[in-house]
Amino acid sequence: MRAPADLRFGFQPASIIVTGAASGIGRATAKLAADQGLAVIGWDVDAYGLAAMRDEIVAAGGSFTGYVADITSPQSVQHAMQASARNLAPRYLVNNAGPPSTAALRFDAAIAGSLIATQCVTRRWLEAEPADPVLVNVVSIAGNLLGLAEWYSAAKAGIMGYTRHLAVGRPHRLRANAVAPGLINTPRVQDTLVSDRGRDIVSRNPMRRVGEPEEIASVVLFLLSPAAAYVNGAMVVADGGSSLTF
Ligand SMILES: NC(=O)c1ccc[n+]([C@@H]2O[C@H](COP(=O)([O-])OP(=O)(O)OC[C@H]3O[C@@H](n4cnc5c(N)ncnc54)[C@H](O)[C@@H]3O)[C@@H](O)[C@H]2O)c1
Repeated sequence: MRAPADLRFGFQPASIIVTGAASGIGRATAKLAADQGLAVIGWDVDAYGLAAMRDEIVAAGGSFTGYVADITSPQSVQHAMQASARNLAPRYLVNNAGPPSTAALRFDAAIAGSLIATQCVTRRWLEAEPADPVLVNVVSIAGNLLGLAEWYSAAKAGIMGYTRHLAVGRPHRLRANAVAPGLINTPRVQDTLVSDRGRDIVSRNPMRRVGEPEEIASVVLFLLSPAAAYVNGAMVVADGGSSLTF
């Protein structure tokens, strides 16, 4: 059964930053957050994608502001955070943007573009002093349960370690958690899905299918919400059970 469309998590009015909001998991998260009554601030390098998101969310009665922002650039992050927190620092942050595991990146550049970028966004956000801040990082079963992909595993395990550190240190009384997706049906994995490797992954998944971005978005929103008020430092695996079968 897929996630129902009428989930209600009990959010009070607040704003939320979602990085990588123009596609895939970020896009589904932005849409579900808007459905929940949150004012969504989407960051992405894809200006056209952000404009399309805005049109879609506003047409459905929600609130969406997009900023073209590259999380790998500290200057870009600083500008986007200044704009995003101009009136009030957003209460919620979803660190979702990150390079695909298949990207041929140098190890140090990849860690900079994912782990260090995630820390940069988080620090700038906390410096804006959000009230009762709550954060979710999008990690992966790679690196945290599986050893697939060298730099990707290192980066995603690093982001999980950073999440746990934030959960213990609780700067500004932050509550911090992560979701670890398995293979999810987003634009970046379309080539994998039609490959022998992709078919093999799906055939070994106990649910015999890939996940949908909306099925990750609903976990993200749950973790952010008052329904998860006592959940801190957790990694919620959403992979259909695939990591149990490798
Ligand atoms: N799809 C999967 O199977 C899967 C599995 C596990 C984890 N994840 C993680 O989920 C997150 C989202 O992946 P997705 O599959 O939805 O990807 P996607 O490619 O569909 O979307 C990623 C979005 O992030 C944006 N983006 C990329 N680099 C950026 C940057 N430097 N600054 C700002 N925006 C940037 C892209 O323009 C795009 O809109 C990633 O962190 C990924 O590692 C995905």
